[in-house]
Amino acid sequence: MIVDENVIRLYGHRLPEMPLIAIVGTETEKTLETVFSVYKQLTEFKSDRATLVWCVGGGITTDIGAYAASTYMRGLPFILVPTTLLAQVDASIGGKCGVNFDGYKNLVGTFSHPEEIVVDYSFLQTLPDRELKNGFGEMIKHACIADYSLFKELESRDNLADQLQKGQKDALSLIEQSISIKIKIVSRDEREGGQRKLLNFGHTFAHAIEAETGIPHGQAVSIGMVMAIHLSVELGMLKKGNDGRLIHLLTQYGLPVTLPVSPERLIHALWHDKKKHGEEIDMVLLSEIGRAELVPVSIKRLKEFLSDLRQHP
Ligand SMILES: NC(=O)c1ccc[n+]([C@@H]2O[C@H](COP(=O)([O-])OP(=O)(O)OC[C@H]3O[C@@H](n4cnc5c(N)ncnc54)[C@H](O)[C@@H]3O)[C@@H](O)[C@H]2O)c1
Repeated sequence: MIVDENVIRLYGHRLPEMPLIAIVGTETEKTLETVFSVYKQLTEFKSDRATLVWCVGGGITTDIGAYAASTYMRGLPFILVPTTLLAQVDASIGGKCGVNFDGYKNLVGTFSHPEEIVVDYSFLQTLPDRELKNGFGEMIKHACIADYSLFKELESRDNLADQLQKGQKDALSLIEQSISIKIKIVSRDEREGGQRKLLNFGHTFAHAIEAETGIPHGQAVSIGMVMAIHLSVELGMLKKGNDGRLIHLLTQYGLPVTLPVSPERLIHALWHDKKKHGEEIDMVLLSEIGRAELVPVSIKRLKEFLSDLRQHP
């Protein structure tokens, strides 16, 4: 069992008797060196191809664990038990796994599917507020791109964090809806040829914001979604007013909505985006809340959009 060290600390007494490999759940530990250490311990435990590996933790642990299991002896069967909200609604689904390399996020990895994904909501009881917010960001993203009724449900909740931690059934069903959205999208397009790219809503701006400011990914995606929805309105794809609704929802869930960096610095970072083709970048934009589209936008148009932001912040 490959387990996040905080999960061992909090839930060690609940884990079954089996050899344990502990993982530190930080991005700096999401490396090939950690994978080597997992291989070494799998060898010490005399694992063979019949060994079933359980990966229990947040997205960092499930990404590392699944990658190590799927490459050791050409692939051991594995089961994922995501213990953060973000890992439950997002990271554990879709078969992507891997580690960071040479400063680049998730540069080395595979598509490998688990035997099963076990979502145990009781893990959410010990999840810090900051980690819950990261998960809410992904749930809001799923609602924006594919499910207007989930968006409305999220709007109608007063304190979803508390309801989830108390195990309130109707609140937990929102996690299920969010999981279903991701399953539906990735099962249509496992290798990110088209549909799956819609899951990158907010991410083009977010990567640029992260690169320029170093703020956490979840917060950058929140601001990135606000920018993407403003752009959708600017390009005439989406009715005005919907942008205000998204800003209100993100604020309700404690997520940031204002750009912490100058538009000039963003343009610089966008120029280096890997989704750039010549003078255009493929952006995920909304035509309605609940419907996303992949739209090529010229760098020139993006520059105009960003300089308008500077004039009317
Ligand atoms: N494979 C994919 O498709 C995919 C998709 C999205 C994100 N990811 C990856 O997921 C990672 C982020 O995942 P994350 O947000 O779960 O972060 P994480 O794994 O770092 O977990 C966040 C923190 O919560 C702690 N924790 C875990 N479970 C807990 C619990 N039940 N109670 C208390 N604390 C707990 C961890 O120790 C850690 O400190 C990133 O590396 C990202 O690249 C992968």
